[in-house]
Amino acid sequence: MISPAWSVFLIGTKIGLFLQVAPLSVMAKPCPSVCRCDAGFIYCNDRFLTSIPTGIPEDATTLYLQNNQINNAGIPSDLKNLLKVERIYLYHNSLDEFPTNLPKYVKELHLQENNIRTITYDSLSKIPYLEELHLDDNSVSAVSIEEGAFRDSNYLRLLFLSRNHLSTIPWGLPRTIEELRLDDNRISTISSPSLQGLTSLKRLVLDGNLLNNHGLGDKVFFNLVNLTELSLVRNSLTAAPVNLPGTNLRKLYLQDNHINRVPPNAFSYLRQLYRLDMSNNNLSNLPQGIFDDLDNITQLILRNNPWYCGCKMKWVRDWLQSLPVKVNVRGLMCQAPEKVRGMAIKDLNAELFDCKDNPVVSTIQITTGTPNTVHPAQGQWPAPVTKQPDPKNPKLAKDQRTTGIPARKTIIITVKSVTSDTIHISWKLVLPMTALRLSWLKLDHSPAFGSITETIVTGERSEYLVTALEPDSPYRVCMVPMETSNLYLFDETPVCIETETAPLRMYNPTTTLNREQEKEPYKNPNLPLAAIIGGAVALVTIALLALVCWYVHRNGSLFSRNCAYSKGRRRKDDYAEAGTKKDNSILEIRETSFQMLPISSEPISKEEFVIHTIFPPNGMNLYKNNHSESSSNRSYRDSGIPDSDHSHS
Ligand SMILES: *[C@@H]1O[C@H](CO)[C@@H](O)[C@H](O)[C@H]1NC(C)=O
Ligand SMILES: *[C@@H]1O[C@H](CO)[C@@H](O)[C@H](O)[C@H]1NC(C)=O
Ligand SMILES: *[C@@H]1O[C@H](CO)[C@@H](O)[C@H](O)[C@H]1NC(C)=O
Repeated sequence: MISPAWSVFLIGTKIGLFLQVAPLSVMAKPCPSVCRCDAGFIYCNDRFLTSIPTGIPEDATTLYLQNNQINNAGIPSDLKNLLKVERIYLYHNSLDEFPTNLPKYVKELHLQENNIRTITYDSLSKIPYLEELHLDDNSVSAVSIEEGAFRDSNYLRLLFLSRNHLSTIPWGLPRTIEELRLDDNRISTISSPSLQGLTSLKRLVLDGNLLNNHGLGDKVFFNLVNLTELSLVRNSLTAAPVNLPGTNLRKLYLQDNHINRVPPNAFSYLRQLYRLDMSNNNLSNLPQGIFDDLDNITQLILRNNPWYCGCKMKWVRDWLQSLPVKVNVRGLMCQAPEKVRGMAIKDLNAELFDCKDNPVVSTIQITTGTPNTVHPAQGQWPAPVTKQPDPKNPKLAKDQRTTGIPARKTIIITVKSVTSDTIHISWKLVLPMTALRLSWLKLDHSPAFGSITETIVTGERSEYLVTALEPDSPYRVCMVPMETSNLYLFDETPVCIETETAPLRMYNPTTTLNREQEKEPYKNPNLPLAAIIGGAVALVTIALLALVCWYVHRNGSLFSRNCAYSKGRRRKDDYAEAGTKKDNSILEIRETSFQMLPISSEPISKEEFVIHTIFPPNGMNLYKNNHSESSSNRSYRDSGIPDSDHSHS
């Protein structure tokens, strides 16, 4: 039974319809018989049409022609006489070429899901007032865009070419463009000139392409002074892009790449940046101060990265703790080392970073005793994370003493020749370390035959006596930090120094004593070498410790390599975050609409309407779409463009 309230509603609606329909039927404006025309809105969509019907009224402003089988031959030449048409929906048809004969003043052209391959000047110049061109899901390639095709398109603000066959950004796009979407093409390179003139560009979407850091020109984005949003999701970047235009950039999306390095200047000057997303990358650490210029950052999303919470990341904790509440940071969760896995960086105690509050130091100093004293230049900081190969058999000139990068490491070595076969090595550590590997190598004329002797010393020690050396010979002494927990702080580049044993005539027959010293802890407090020389037991212990450390270290790095880096399938939401999914601006349905269907084919009488809603308020679609493949991100489908007739009241 129909409830009283419902019948009142029905009656009321019928009266309303009667009042509206009566004058329309009296006026009987022309309308193609297969279509429905309503105050400039012409509904010819979803009708298996192979051509655009003739007889479209001259006051037409919007043509709904989507979901048909219209091909290029099916576009009548008198279509161009419809001078009031501003919007044409021709998506999901059978067009092979860019359509011609379009109404001259069309502003908005929806051509998605056809098979259009070419874009020519000839077709575009006839619709010079075009502002929005939707060409997603076609077959456009870079070479099939005629040179200068856009040269008369001086009003084009929006160009969507998602899911085409582009291998690069087309040249000669109009300077008026404000939004350019090129996601899910095959773009692998962007040369600087291609974006050069697009100073009006505000939104650039390049998701799902093949871009790596080599394919991006040095300053490709630099001139885009009006750019507010840049999206490079789902590419193959290994480092965050640099030289971004800071004047207006507010949103930067870098999710789903392979980024394992953020250059120290990557976010310089991005003072307007409001949202930065680097989720699903391969980041284990961040250079100190990387976010310092981001005055306006409010959303920083860094989920699913293999964060290694070593000393190098301690600054992040301090930074997080100093942030104002309005800043929303997500995803800074330690993945390694094991002892802090799963903990939020912000919550870690300072000790857990294993750097005991020492500042990161940017110099190396190597000091020799007599005769050499070397103070290498200040390392430039911050330096990119570069692992340098450990020089196994170094042939360094005498004056080239530093090996490895001049950053972060501070071991000051002093070497003194005690006797002709003994040298005394002492060192100072600016950062605390748990252990160091000390090695010495006789520098022969043929270094390939030299054998390296090495030992492990604990971090508490500061001296070591090397005995049984050859007299009057050059030696190279190196020290390498053997950190277990701070492996990102210290690279394994040794700090080295060269020295010479004294000539034989200075031979001092205390050699035996010195050899003894190496076996037993030296007890005599008067000797300068007291308490330096570890006994054999100590050595074994240290070696064991080192082994354990090495094992943990290995596990640690294995872990960080494997740790939960899964590309996986992207959630739809990510796509929405990237801003490429929904564009409600295409068409908004402002109110619940009604559809009118005559029950019989008899002339319509006011009594014989069924009324039901087309657009239920919860957004659910009552009409199944025969054409659409399994749910896709086709914005023009999701955005409320009617797939069936609907009335504008
Ligand atoms: C940037 O945008 C503003 C406002 O939208 C506009 O006035 C200005 O001309 C644009 N700059 C350039 C270089 O196009
Ligand atoms: C992550 O980065 C490391 C180097 O830091 C690299 O060895 C590894 O292959 C990268 N993993 C992925 C999945 O890109
Ligand atoms: C931050 O953004 C607001 C508007 O969202 C703007 O008015 C302000 O100038 C920005 N601040 C900086 C430092 O750029």
